[in-house]
Amino acid sequence: MYLLFLTLEGIDGCGKSTQARLLRDFLSKRYGEEKVVWTREPGGWPGSACLREMLLSKELDHPWTEVFLFLADRFEHVKKVIEPAIFSGIHVLCERYDDSTLAYQAWGRELPLAQVERAIALVEHLTPVKTILIDVSVETAMKRISDRPGLDRYEREGARFLERVRDGYRILSSREPSRFIVIDGEAGPEKVFQEILVSLEEFR
Ligand code: TMP
Repeated sequence: MYLLFLTLEGIDGCGKSTQARLLRDFLSKRYGEEKVVWTREPGGWPGSACLREMLLSKELDHPWTEVFLFLADRFEHVKKVIEPAIFSGIHVLCERYDDSTLAYQAWGRELPLAQVERAIALVEHLTPVKTILIDVSVETAMKRISDRPGLDRYEREGARFLERVRDGYRILSSREPSRFIVIDGEAGPEKVFQEILVSLEEFR
């Protein structure tokens, strides 16, 4: 399972942070703690907290402002965290990446897909070796989100928005079946994790 650059994707409430933690622990045991980096977007590089706060908590009026802020966050994240790790042979587990921008901004916000794709492609950056898409129903996701203390802008968008994002992820995964591993996230965390491991071991 020498994958190096792995991303985790899914709608809010799909359980991706729990799975990222379990996978980080598993890979750390196998390769050593110093050989695994667990990071996320937005806000995965030192000094990026203000960008995360702006994206998740402030009212941004123009949907393209979101796209450009997510991309600014990503390109800096790639330069500061992802590339240095990968070039040193360290595994990177990243929660959210380009697929989030496509699923949330093109499908969720209904911006033209070709334009969002063009914006992402403006700057060359690494593509993940594998992307784990944790698929849950919007009903399950909404139940999990409603247990959280304060909801961010995207979590407040509601069921119809999440349905569009979920459709987007499904289409993205069918376009690139060799990169995506689609996992049913409805079961408990341990069962979901076992499924992820089985799928990843195939690429050893
Ligand atoms: P999370 O860290 O809890 O997953 O929250 C990040 C939120 O930001 C989530 O609702 C998805 C959203 N998002 C986008 O809309 N576009 C993006 O490109 C990224 C990275 C995240």
